Amino acid sequence: MPAPHLDFGYPWWLNYGHLAAFAVLAAGLLCAVLFRWAKWLVVVLGVGSAWAAVVFLMIRFGVDINGVASLPTPNFMQAGTGRVLDIGAGTGRSAIMVLRARPQATLVASDLFGSSFEEHFGPGESPQERLRRNLDAAGVSKRATIETADMRRLPFDDATFDAIVSAYAVDHLNREGSKTALREAARVLKPGGDFLLMVVENDFWGKLAFGPALTHGGTRGRPWWAGAAKDAGFTIREEGSLPVTTYLLLRR
Ligand SMILES: C[S@@+](CC[C@H](N)C(=O)[O-])C[C@H]1O[C@@H](n2cnc3c(N)ncnc32)[C@H](O)[C@@H]1O
Repeated sequence: MPAPHLDFGYPWWLNYGHLAAFAVLAAGLLCAVLFRWAKWLVVVLGVGSAWAAVVFLMIRFGVDINGVASLPTPNFMQAGTGRVLDIGAGTGRSAIMVLRARPQATLVASDLFGSSFEEHFGPGESPQERLRRNLDAAGVSKRATIETADMRRLPFDDATFDAIVSAYAVDHLNREGSKTALREAARVLKPGGDFLLMVVENDFWGKLAFGPALTHGGTRGRPWWAGAAKDAGFTIREEGSLPVTTYLLLRR
């Protein structure tokens, strides 16, 4: 049987859509120059080609949504050991990020595995099976378990986990839902535990790449997330950015 390979399952166009746009625009530019089309058309196609090339390089190498992610900060879970909860684990990208960076840790990968999963990763075989296969392919499945759970009503006792991670998941809920999920995270996290929260940020790169199409359940900006996290009982240890992403390192 062939070895399983990592397949996070985000749509191809997220990584390569701008490359396709570049190919079309650059071909148009070549025609415009060769066949001496109007100057304004040469300028428009030139600017468009440059935009598509820059955005493609940023998305492909700066975000790489279908590639294995690195922790945005080395300060998350510095003790290196303990039980971690991934909230909205999807096909495992954030879980694998943590399990690879913290080889002594174990992790519960939780997700609702409902319509939102299907919207992101498409229909087909069992979501849990897809997640399991990626954990296997990454060589971390012995340290991971999978739980079906709504992040607004986590089926865990108070103070169960040493750390929590959540990437691009809590921001799918509306404001009230996000606040509820943050309160649930605070409840199940042990006092002194870290919570690495990553959400989509409509920053310069997000606007340049996707314009008004980037909604991700309504991007709210870092001040909103920082305020909601404090209201839920967290203190903020660190905040920072990656392209199209804000992260907050929170402590219970
Ligand atoms: C964009 S994916 C992120 C997956 C993964 N964390 C990553 O970094 O690739 C968002 C995930 O949140 C999950 N989700 C949405 N609403 C949820 C809820 N109420 N409770 C638990 N998971 C939810 C979806 O099923 C989906 O798998």
